[in-house]
Amino acid sequence: MTDLYAVMGNPIGHSKSPQIHTAFAKITDQEMLYSAILVPLDGFDTAVDDFFRRGGKGLNITVPFKENAWRYADQFSARAQRAQAVNTLMKLQDGSILADNTDGVGMVRDIVVNQKVAIEGKRVLILGAGGAVRGVLQPLLEQKPANVTLANRTVSKAEALARDFADLGEIAACGFADVCGEFDLIINGTSASLAGELPPIPASCVTAETVSYDMMYSNETTVFNQWALDQGALKTIDGLGMLVEQAAEAFLLWRDVRPDTEGVMNAIREDCRR
Ligand code: ATR
Repeated sequence: MTDLYAVMGNPIGHSKSPQIHTAFAKITDQEMLYSAILVPLDGFDTAVDDFFRRGGKGLNITVPFKENAWRYADQFSARAQRAQAVNTLMKLQDGSILADNTDGVGMVRDIVVNQKVAIEGKRVLILGAGGAVRGVLQPLLEQKPANVTLANRTVSKAEALARDFADLGEIAACGFADVCGEFDLIINGTSASLAGELPPIPASCVTAETVSYDMMYSNETTVFNQWALDQGALKTIDGLGMLVEQAAEAFLLWRDVRPDTEGVMNAIREDCRR
């Protein structure tokens, strides 16, 4: 029987996950079907119950249900437990539900492997302190950056996050205006770009060696990456690679095979341009 997988979210219409996982299944020769399910805002648990009752094997979870999924699961990977947010669920042999968060490992793989940008020993600035940033901090800190500065509009949220992850590395928190010094890697994890806005950080934190990474992706250079280029940044990367790599990590968990991501990334990029 064909194994069933899906992504759940609200909205879900623009999700690229079905396209990505269908391509992965094809290149790894796996017999599976992957669909997108629109879940009512108050209906997450019921939808997941139904899916697994119908024989579903695994789910990806997207906005706004990543914390619901964390509460739903029975067992957790260490990074999911840290993140307290989950983008991947899997039904185990004994019927229990295992949760993972592959966003951070996907982002790190995109930076280090695809883009060949080392994080070890680097000065890293992260903008934002919401779910997206919480989801990537453990895998990022495991790369042993020299230090991490978390800057957020609401400073108390950055401070709370820095406290939660302080045992994993040197991590400080501040507001945007208080960011000082130069950084090797600046990661935009705010949702400001959705509104075409820029986190107001000083231009002096960008040097000719700085790499900027926007967790968002778009057909054109994102507002944040354009700002970094205008300040003389060395290189900009958007979140499309992270999207495909987090999917590949979920696929690996479910199917025990890691698909080659390069061709799929190129196809999705082409698709965005159309
Ligand atoms: P996500 O799951 O995408 O992280 P979230 O948890 O709602 O969503 O977090 C959104 C992040 O983007 C927060 O860090 C938020 O700042 P606040 O904590 O101060 O709300 C940040 N953000 C959203 N809009 C922003 C804007 N216009 N300028 C700067 N930061 C913004």
